[in-house]
Amino acid sequence: MHQQNIEQDLLEESRQGEVLSYHAQTESNRKYYIESYGCQMNFSDSEIVASILAQEGMSSTKELSEAQLILLNTCSIREKAEETIRKRLKEFEHLKKKNHKLTIGVLGCMAERLKNKFLEEEKLVDLVVGPDSYRDLPRLIGQTDEGDKAVNVFLSREETYADINPIRLDSNGVTAFISIMRGCDNMCSFCVVPFTRGRERSRDAMSVLAEARDLFDRGFREVTLLGQNVDSYKWQNPNSGEWILFANLLEMVAQIDPRLRVRFSTSHPKDITDQVIQTMANYPNICKYIHLPVQSGNSRVLKLMNRTYDREWYMDRVNTIYRLMPDCAISSDIIAGFCTETEDEHKETISMMLWANYSMSYMFFYSERPGTPAAKKLIDDVPIEIKKERLNEIIRIQNQISYKHNMADVGKTFEVLIEGNSKKSEHDFKGRNSQNKMIVFPKKGNYKAGDYVQVLVQSASSATLTGIIMD
Ligand code: 5AD
Ligand code: SF4
Repeated sequence: MHQQNIEQDLLEESRQGEVLSYHAQTESNRKYYIESYGCQMNFSDSEIVASILAQEGMSSTKELSEAQLILLNTCSIREKAEETIRKRLKEFEHLKKKNHKLTIGVLGCMAERLKNKFLEEEKLVDLVVGPDSYRDLPRLIGQTDEGDKAVNVFLSREETYADINPIRLDSNGVTAFISIMRGCDNMCSFCVVPFTRGRERSRDAMSVLAEARDLFDRGFREVTLLGQNVDSYKWQNPNSGEWILFANLLEMVAQIDPRLRVRFSTSHPKDITDQVIQTMANYPNICKYIHLPVQSGNSRVLKLMNRTYDREWYMDRVNTIYRLMPDCAISSDIIAGFCTETEDEHKETISMMLWANYSMSYMFFYSERPGTPAAKKLIDDVPIEIKKERLNEIIRIQNQISYKHNMADVGKTFEVLIEGNSKKSEHDFKGRNSQNKMIVFPKKGNYKAGDYVQVLVQSASSATLTGIIMD
């Protein structure tokens, strides 16, 4: 009961926040343009930034030419992401020449790494703000208004933006992301995230519940709980002293309403517990889909990656998932050509992909990131041609697995949440099934976005399913 009161209070507070920001927006009309790169966490952060700026009376625009402030929310995960963003910043140089009052800012993961380079050496930007300093944006923007450069890349141990009600950018009004934790303590040797996003911290569970409930009340029907490693979510209720773990949080969100679908990302194979898997199995509205990045199928390489699990451990997790949820889809992240990886070890990644039967994978070749443990201690000795060759093989195999996985769905009927019109035709809807597969089907009757429909799958490619609504 007490818990409910707190949630209710939080909800009221967040609703008030929305009203305030609305008034503020009508008072001033400064416009900003924001572009996001990288993971879902980063897109979710942009929605926090939008909320903070709305309170300052600023509104977003999709037109670069209308903006007095341009923000790029950046990603550092691979060299390629950084190159893309640098190119984009160069494109903005001519806008700046035309409009001296234009402020250009870099947010997110590249901020910490490249602040000096951006600000001083290349003079590409006026503003650099790290992922834990968004509350400071109004002050920093004020500083740039005075003609100064502004920087805050402080990484916090506490900041979770728990009290900020994100403004949904590019929303379909049906699905939304909720950030439940920030940072990462894992120290995978290839990964720059612990350095760009700082230490791991979990957000107040009550504020997560309030946000999910508020979304449901506003017509949203699916939430994805986000964190770099959701399985290590851990929050202590200051009133009861009770610890809430990820399985508990997942259950609490699932209990909001059976019509609210719950997803989450990303799981770490070393941390995903039987309790989480069992909770998923217990609730039909917790989607039967797990993103469980393997990175490599070889135990020696996994050790070098500091993933702290081996091939057998990973296989045990996958076995448990399929045992408790035979209809669950599993997807993965895979890195080709990590330091010292041999051809035989690469083949073990391929055999793992086939064995685990991934519905899809995000696949990369290894790219050394400055400052990471691998950059410091290991030799990046697999030639780029070999990395690309291995990656191509991985992609080719995954396409075959995905195609087979999808073909196995032909003839089956799934509950699909309609997300909106398909990309190609306004006569068709698109939506996902529980297993996170996108299905395209002709519109029928009065069904609209946000409705659940039963869809019979009639055909498949390696990327999409097509079907028809069954009454
Ligand atoms: N090189 C290549 N891929 C990487 N990833 C993370 N760091 C690197 C890197 N240095 C991949 C991992 C991770 C995903 C988000 O990006 O597969 O799970
Ligand atoms: Fe990119 Fe990682 Fe930062 Fe996400 S957390 S934006 S993937 S570097």
